[in-house]
Amino acid sequence: MNRRDFVTALGAAAAANWSSSTAIAHAAMSPLKQLADHKGLMFGSSLALKYFTQSPAYKQLFISQCDIATPELQMKWNSLSHQPGVYDFASADQLVTFCETNHIKVRGHTLVWHDSLPAWIPGRLSSTTAETIMLDHIHAVAGHFAGKLYSWDVVNEALDPGSQRQDGLRTSPWLQNIGVDYIEKAFRATAAADPHALLIWNENYLEVSNGFGAAKRRAMLAQLDILLEQGVPIHGIGLESHLRGNQANVLGDASYEAFLAELAKRGMKIFITELDIQDVTLPADVSERDQTVADIYKKFLTATLRQSAVKGVIAWGLSDAFTWLSGYAPRKDGLPARPLAFDANCQPKPAYYAIADALETAPRRA
Ligand code: G3I
Repeated sequence: MNRRDFVTALGAAAAANWSSSTAIAHAAMSPLKQLADHKGLMFGSSLALKYFTQSPAYKQLFISQCDIATPELQMKWNSLSHQPGVYDFASADQLVTFCETNHIKVRGHTLVWHDSLPAWIPGRLSSTTAETIMLDHIHAVAGHFAGKLYSWDVVNEALDPGSQRQDGLRTSPWLQNIGVDYIEKAFRATAAADPHALLIWNENYLEVSNGFGAAKRRAMLAQLDILLEQGVPIHGIGLESHLRGNQANVLGDASYEAFLAELAKRGMKIFITELDIQDVTLPADVSERDQTVADIYKKFLTATLRQSAVKGVIAWGLSDAFTWLSGYAPRKDGLPARPLAFDANCQPKPAYYAIADALETAPRRA
């Protein structure tokens, strides 16, 4: 009996007035971190402590479900520094302490990105200043957290096939002012500042099964070959996996699984780093919408977790009450977004059971 059948059976048992059904329902909702751990995987979510003030239930949910977390905002450059060279680590330190207390690993996010830069940066960047600004930032931030983080997203979203560059790299301020080797320099500097963290290139839309996704996958492998040839300390790839309910994504796309195999062949650890499913174009009906979202979770995770180099699944939020998609992609009908595993009251949705099923059917990692 799979998990969903089990839950359906529970409903029947409850209808028959089965006295222990509540206890069994509770047992049926195994923590995702536990199901993941049985397979040698980690499970976690993005994290912002401010949500816990709004919802103590969310705090309990987070602690019960996650053994790894990514700060949603607190380690971004514009959160840490409002003036050149001046850093305030208080919020990020608080988040790290919370995670340490609750045995949750922390993924540092993120050092070199074209987005979320402080207002003072653009006016100061030039071909003579950019490298020093980037390296000083890495030394300050990776140095501050050295030894405390599981991994760093060293470089974030550095590919953009739309840039029309042959190499598929994004024409970010870093590339424009430092050159293509800003990536190599960033990884080497992070390794020097924190020799213990896994060093990750985090990237979006690698899983999309259209020409854009294919171009990203090709560009990523080509960049990886250059970096590895040069002995650059890069240990893993983050697949953001912001999926869409109206998009085929990886479903049935063999080239995506072949790509994961190519990453594994190059010794990369792979992480799903920002998993959620936009339901903005899906029908208003909640059960239909939830089922579509759940089906996509199941298919995506089943395909991805077949690859044993995939070591962890990190969602971009756990409860629909706290999702960036409410602001970024609001529904035209005004209904709340339902992209995550748990509803706004922290109760499991079909998406939770789909994720749980996928973890349970994943092959065990060594
Ligand atoms: O907190 C301020 C608030 O005081 C102000 O009134 C409001 C007005 O715009 O802005 C609020 O800050 C926003 C912040 O989220 C908190 O909600 C920022 O404008 C907004 O830019 C920021 O968006 C974040 C975005 O990254 C940019 O840093 C999202 O929450 C966060 O989920 C998103 O996460 C990214 C990953 O880091 C990288 N991959 C894509 C992913 C989704 O975009």
